[in-house]
Amino acid sequence: MKIKQLATLFIGVLMFGLVSCEYVTIQPKDVIIPDTPVSFKTDVEPIFTQLNCIQCHPALHQPDLAVNKAYASLTSMNLVDTQNPAGSKLIQYINAGHNTAANMTGTQKALILKWITEGAKNN
Ligand code: HEC
Repeated sequence: MKIKQLATLFIGVLMFGLVSCEYVTIQPKDVIIPDTPVSFKTDVEPIFTQLNCIQCHPALHQPDLAVNKAYASLTSMNLVDTQNPAGSKLIQYINAGHNTAANMTGTQKALILKWITEGAKNN
């Protein structure tokens, strides 16, 4: 009886060991900040779609953050300030955790700020 219990315990520990050693891959879902200049088209604009800003912009409020509309809208509304990038209204809203901006990663925020610092080009 005792041997049976010990064997059960041994198998239990063994199973636990096997399960806890299971290989888990962590997918980096963050954006990598390039050394090269940030591109509005390929780096910044997709963030607005990914974070669902487009669900409300422009339906509920301007700026229009949809693909191919975001650049003209952000610049014509003076929401980006190349003289004072961190003071840009866009950055202030993002940093304040406005709506889905609360889910933005630090890297995504840094990427948008870098784009403004580099002159907020339509690139
Ligand atoms: C659930 C709806 C909703 C979502 C999602 C949303 N917004 Fe907004 N946003 C609004 C509304 C409504 C206003 C106007 C009221 C205000 O200023 O808070 C606004 C205002 C703004 C403004 C200021 C515009 C101005 O008139 O000066 C900016 C910039 C902005 N949003 C950016 C974003 C970004 C970037 C995202 C995504 C990360 C986002 N918003 C997601 C609803 C939303």
